[in-house]
Amino acid sequence: MLEIRDLQVRYGGITALAGVSIDVRQNETVLLVGANGAGKSSTINAVIGLVRTAGGSIRLDGKELTSIPCERRAREGIGYSPEGRRVFPSMTVAENVLSGAFGMGRRHQRESFDWLVSLFPFLAERASQPAGQLSGGQQQLVAISRAMCAMPRLLLLDEPFLGLAPIWVRQISDAIRQMQARNTTILMTEQMARPALKLATRGYVMRGGEVRRAGSVAEIQDSALAEEYL
Ligand SMILES: Nc1ncnc2c1ncn2[C@@H]1O[C@H](COP(=O)(O)OP(=O)(O)OP(=O)(O)O)[C@@H](O)[C@H]1O
Ligand SMILES: [Mg+2]
Repeated sequence: MLEIRDLQVRYGGITALAGVSIDVRQNETVLLVGANGAGKSSTINAVIGLVRTAGGSIRLDGKELTSIPCERRAREGIGYSPEGRRVFPSMTVAENVLSGAFGMGRRHQRESFDWLVSLFPFLAERASQPAGQLSGGQQQLVAISRAMCAMPRLLLLDEPFLGLAPIWVRQISDAIRQMQARNTTILMTEQMARPALKLATRGYVMRGGEVRRAGSVAEIQDSALAEEYL
C-alpha cells in the first residue's frame, strides 16, 4: 500500500535520511524503532508532506505522493498524529477532534465523533473544555482521535506513547487495536519499543538516517529492544 524507496531528506547541510526504503502492506501495522535522531519523524513527516524530500519516491497505492502538497495528502486518506501530543490548546476538545475530519459531511463527522466517544468517554465529558487544560495523556488521546476522526486508510502515529503513564499507554494501545479491527493500515514510530512491539506485525530498526534491520516483530525484537536502551 505504502512504498517508500530510497528516500532522502536533508535539513540544510544535515542528512536526516540517507536512502530509506520501507513497505507497508494493506492492513499491516509497521513499527519504525530507533534512538534519538534516527530519522523516524523525518520519514513520517515526508509521507504526510511536512518535510520536502531530496530524493526517492513515496507511493500510496501506486500514486506518487511527493508531488502532492501536504494539505491535499489528508484527502488521499492519510491521518497523522504528530510527535509531542500537539493539540490546538485554546480550541475545545471537540473542535480539536473534529478538525481532523475537516471537509467531511456533518453526518460523517458526528458518526466519527460518537465512535471516538465510545472509545474514550472523556472526550464527551471534556468536549467543550480547551484542550490545553487536559493532562498530557489526555492531550495525546485528543491528538490521536483527531488523526482517527476522518477514518483514514493509512494512519501515521509519531511516538504515541512518549512520556506517558502506563494507564495512557494501555488506552492508546486499545485505540490502535480498534483501528486495526477497522482494517486501517498503520505506520508508527517509537523509541519505547516494548508496548509498540505488541501492536506491530513488522518493523524496521533505524539508525543514523538508515534502516539497519527489517523483519517480522519476532525477527527485529532483540535489536529493537537494544535501541530502547541506547
Ligand atoms: N528541523 C530540523 N532542522 C535540522 N535538523 C533536523 C531537523 N529535524 C530533524 N533534524 C535532524 O535530522 C536527524 C533525524 O531527526 P528525526 O527527528 O527524523 O529523528 P527521530 O528518529 O524522529 O528522533 P527522535 O526520537 O528524537 O524523535 C537528526 O540528526 C536531527 O537532528
Ligand atoms: Mg521523532
